[in-house]
Amino acid sequence: MKRNMHTIDGRRLWQSIEEMARIGALPHGGSRRLALSEEDREARELFASWCRDAGCEMHVDQFGNQFGVRRGSAHDEPLVMFGSHLDTQPNGGRFDGIYGVLAGLEVMRTLHAAGLQTKRSLAVVNWTNEEGVRFSPGLTGSKGFAGLLSPQDVAALRSSDGAAFRDELQRLGYLGSPTPFKVANYFEAHIEQGPVLEAAQLAVGVVTGVQGVRWFEVQVTGADRHAGTTPMSMRADSFMASCRIAMSLRAAALAISADIRLTVGRVAVQPGSINTVPGQTHFTIDLRHPDSAVLDRVEGLIFELSASEAKAEGCEIAVKKVFDLPPVAFEEGTVNRVAEAVRKNDLPTMCIVSGAMHDACALATVAPAAMIFTACRLGISHSEDEFAEPDDLAAGCQVLLDAVVAAANLA
Ligand code: GLV
Ligand code: MN
Ligand code: MN
Repeated sequence: MKRNMHTIDGRRLWQSIEEMARIGALPHGGSRRLALSEEDREARELFASWCRDAGCEMHVDQFGNQFGVRRGSAHDEPLVMFGSHLDTQPNGGRFDGIYGVLAGLEVMRTLHAAGLQTKRSLAVVNWTNEEGVRFSPGLTGSKGFAGLLSPQDVAALRSSDGAAFRDELQRLGYLGSPTPFKVANYFEAHIEQGPVLEAAQLAVGVVTGVQGVRWFEVQVTGADRHAGTTPMSMRADSFMASCRIAMSLRAAALAISADIRLTVGRVAVQPGSINTVPGQTHFTIDLRHPDSAVLDRVEGLIFELSASEAKAEGCEIAVKKVFDLPPVAFEEGTVNRVAEAVRKNDLPTMCIVSGAMHDACALATVAPAAMIFTACRLGISHSEDEFAEPDDLAAGCQVLLDAVVAAANLA
């Protein structure tokens, strides 16, 4: 990476990632910081103290999003925003989301140390509940900020453990008020979470868009019966029906497109007794593809095959779509801004479409947005095994700084 006028400190970035990972640390190197948990509060407080030390003014909005603002010379103009999320999966890694927030912090630290003021103000942001684990679905904070969810929708959210989103914000001291920010541009740095950049031996990628995501909840109803006395032919086994549905769907979806992603990630079987045929099974489906027409076809199959496979097992079915994030194409000018910053640093690169969803998808509906990806080992993510090379993270952070400064028009 070429040194330029304002070079980020890759070691300081790495140390901050390591320090953040100690909050909710897991035995194999990952972290567990579910949204609005005690660990999330601790992470927020550490982030806020780091931002203040880097000369930022802190703001919290009604969705609990945290903003560290560095004033520009034209403070009344829309600002340049960048960040990601500090919440994690249950067995999360140290980088997913965290890297984007701390790379944004490193941008602030670098400008602060150099005493550089941009024309537009800058804001580094930690979005609330990107992952959607404790409160489903995800992207809550960024969608709220973008006006895609109302404060009422968000207030009605209940966690898997029964807590109300708003009560949890209040308990943690993170129920703020609407921010006056208008966004000129949004940037997000993130590990790729897939294998493409590493296979191409590239540190960074220019993200042109994000594939579409749809989530479904499926409730299969059979009948509770004695496991020892009920002949196999006389059962309505909700779990066996669910297995048939999952297997048939996978085969049918793959026949439509080899690029499909279909995941059954959560299954709850009731009554959950070793010697009772289960009468109720609830499971989730996460469906992704870059093309809405393909998603429509597979969605149709989800409804049809679930009904026919459940019927074949003597069960009833109810399928509900609970989340729909259309494919996103990032604004060309902002994508080019990232590509220019990559070129400025003499980094080889490629364009890439994101397989994972990001807060940038919500922000793209209110401001020109773009993302920078960095390589991650074997493409592993949502796992304690997630790893990214410090040099690759530093390269992505430098690209973020150069793109941000160019967009904010350094005075
Ligand atoms: C977020 O990590 C997602 O893509 O589900
Ligand atoms: Mn993420
Ligand atoms: Mn994630």
